[in-house]
Amino acid sequence: MNDEIEKLKSEATSEISQLNSPEDFENFRLKYLSRKGWLAQLFEKMRDVPKDEKPAVGKSLNELRGFIESKFVERKAMRATELASDKGPEIDLTIPGRKRFFGRQHPLTQTLNEIKRIFTGIGFGIADGPEIEDDYHNFEALNFPPDHPARDMQDTFFVSDNSGKFVLRTHTSGVQIRVMENNKPPVRVIMPGRCYRNEAISARAYCMFHQVEGLYVDKNVSLAELKGTISYFAKELFGSEVKTRFRPSFFPFTEPSAEVDIGCIFCGGKGCRLCKHAGWLEIMGCGMVDPNVFKFVGYDPAEVSGFAFGMGIERIAMLKYGIDDIRLFFENDLRFLNQF
Ligand code: DAH
Repeated sequence: MNDEIEKLKSEATSEISQLNSPEDFENFRLKYLSRKGWLAQLFEKMRDVPKDEKPAVGKSLNELRGFIESKFVERKAMRATELASDKGPEIDLTIPGRKRFFGRQHPLTQTLNEIKRIFTGIGFGIADGPEIEDDYHNFEALNFPPDHPARDMQDTFFVSDNSGKFVLRTHTSGVQIRVMENNKPPVRVIMPGRCYRNEAISARAYCMFHQVEGLYVDKNVSLAELKGTISYFAKELFGSEVKTRFRPSFFPFTEPSAEVDIGCIFCGGKGCRLCKHAGWLEIMGCGMVDPNVFKFVGYDPAEVSGFAFGMGIERIAMLKYGIDDIRLFFENDLRFLNQF
């Protein structure tokens, strides 16, 4: 009898673990637990068990019934949970997770943010202007003579509305005019934005690029303040050891004008391939605002003076990160962008 109990227990246990469908459960119930099922049949056999063994065998049988019933209910509940989450038991928790890719800021955005941080930290505000600009703001009010070569089709994209009046701005300097037209001095702003030039595309030039313009107008603004501001900026951006120098230059809208170089950050000024063995790298143009420009915007050049500067963000970023081809900024190649 004990053997039969053990046999039934192990058979029932292994069958219970295979129960899935409602029919499986019903068949199992009929086979083992119903009035004519295996358990009931074993209980019948109690009649033939010798009297002195009855209590022990009866106990075993009761235990067996309790065991099978509880296993049966357990399996039913488990199956219900499996079905409730429709992914069922097939989720493989050992499969490695998928790699998540995080976006990040474009190196040009990072560079511009750094430039903004430096200038807003010393009291400059931020302004912007239109990318489709009229001839007046892009050239005329900036004191470009009518026959200036920069107005040539060679350099400038004209907007084809047949008026010949509108261009894709070739620099951000026109925003200076707009800011002064709309504000009384003193003025202290930087003006970042996209610019366009009709240039042959190469590692050093692209048809679209970004500049940051700067303008500071007040009573008695001096060239010394221009030099101090730009030198401070260069040190903040490229490190406190960096040298700056101001080379005389020409722009129609500043007088005097200068180009700013920093001591080569790659070779420390000794001369290398990147600074073309000059020891210096050009970073921007600048100068004292030309009195003619003040006249265009209705400022009195006898009352106020000011300085202006303009730099290419791509150029700054190329120097800062050691990038040798401007086209990389616009190709959206993640192998490039992921490095910043
Ligand atoms: N607009 C000039 C350019 O596109 C850059 C520049 C030079 C801006 C001197 C200025 C400046 O404000 O004073 O190359």
